[in-house]
Amino acid sequence: MAKAKTRYYCQNCGAHSSQWIGKCSSCGEWNTYVEEVIEKTASKAISRSGRQEKSVPLRIKDITYNKEERINLNSKELNRVLGNGLVYGSIVLVGGEPGIGKSTLLLQMAVSLTRLRVLYVSGEESEQQIRLRAERIGYVNDNCLIVTETDLDTIIGHIKSVKPELIVIDSVQTLHSQNLDSAAGSVSQIRECAAELQQYTKYLNIPLFLIGHITKAGNLAGPKVLEHMVDTVLQFEGDRNYGYRILRTLKNRFGSASELGIFEMHNEGLREVTNPSEILLSHQNNDLSGVAISATLEGMRPILIEVQALVSTAAYGTPQRSATGFDVKRLNMLLAVLEKRNGFRLSSKDVFLNIAGGIKVDDPAIDLAVVAAILSSNEDLPLSKKHCFAAEVGLSGEIRSVNKVDQRIKEADKLGFEKIYISAHNQKGIDKSQHQIEIIPLKTVRDLFLKIF
Ligand code: TYD
Ligand code: MG
Repeated sequence: MAKAKTRYYCQNCGAHSSQWIGKCSSCGEWNTYVEEVIEKTASKAISRSGRQEKSVPLRIKDITYNKEERINLNSKELNRVLGNGLVYGSIVLVGGEPGIGKSTLLLQMAVSLTRLRVLYVSGEESEQQIRLRAERIGYVNDNCLIVTETDLDTIIGHIKSVKPELIVIDSVQTLHSQNLDSAAGSVSQIRECAAELQQYTKYLNIPLFLIGHITKAGNLAGPKVLEHMVDTVLQFEGDRNYGYRILRTLKNRFGSASELGIFEMHNEGLREVTNPSEILLSHQNNDLSGVAISATLEGMRPILIEVQALVSTAAYGTPQRSATGFDVKRLNMLLAVLEKRNGFRLSSKDVFLNIAGGIKVDDPAIDLAVVAAILSSNEDLPLSKKHCFAAEVGLSGEIRSVNKVDQRIKEADKLGFEKIYISAHNQKGIDKSQHQIEIIPLKTVRDLFLKIF
């Protein structure tokens, strides 16, 4: 087969060259040249999808559509992050660090769907390995077909002959198109292969899952170039030392982009966690200082999470500050607020912060629990395990309001908490008669200190 004609383009300024060059002679940027196909052999992509008709502009009311039907994936958490099921013909990119459990998640989905013909294409594991894993997690879907393949044309051939109702590609970084010289996993290969698959599966209306590894730096590096072209982007994350895994929606054309699914990794695969708050709280009754509970909101779901702080006199000249699951810069800012506005002498103390369960939180409402945990450890006075916190702390030590405070209160109430501390600005609109929990409004960090001790 004749190779397609390609050229190298600078991703920064658009200059091109027939060879790869390290530094763009036009804009001076380094490492921006990427190979692109400029002329396909006999316009393969078009003939493949069979689409030749010209486009015609239509009035919006004249456009016909089928009522959006969704595939039930047999998993409450997966359905939730996709916005109530998988839409036919949609493309879902699942990103995550190597070893986090992406293959497990999608294989488990593929083998648990009863009677749906699924094609699972793996470029990373052999058929035997996949069979072993399927045995381990238990399978019921006899219609799940497994193939180990990395060549794009062969994969498209398999799709043609098998006619699957759902396709999983593990992973986009292993795909290779013969149109391009560059190695599998390069930006041009990823883009080219995904574009071909997209054209083909959209035309046939088959849903497609693409797995993409993220780099050490934490972004979907290669797969990042796919984000605009796929319908849904999911990120699978979690601390490998803990069993919890979070599946987060980063983009969704068919639902909310702030959904979240929680799983737990077991020996027999991933198990769904439907009551996260109850699991993330330690339920220890011993009175230890430095522990505060935050009513956070992850996506649309309220979750109560334990925040642990340890404040101790610095052994060396420069005090240490470290945080797991929380932004260290934000921790430093909160410490500066406590020091400057309220005169707590923390600059000579080591401060360590930990969010229980290895979960990373970026909801600003966790601020108040962080401050409360630090004060509790600093004073060595325990806080009641029946109290929780939900507010942001501002630079002047003011307690600021957070969104959806009603949901947070409801969740804390449901779990039997007795008091919730919130911002005084959040009070209006809350129907206190609906809850048993006592709502305590705060204006400043000083109020917090006086109320909790
Ligand atoms: P994997 O799905 O291969 O990760 P990824 O595809 O994201 O690279 O799974 C990674 C880890 O999960 C691996 O270290 C082993 C663990 N695991 C279990 O703990 N239990 C199981 O049942 C399975 C299948 C995997
Ligand atoms: Mg894998």
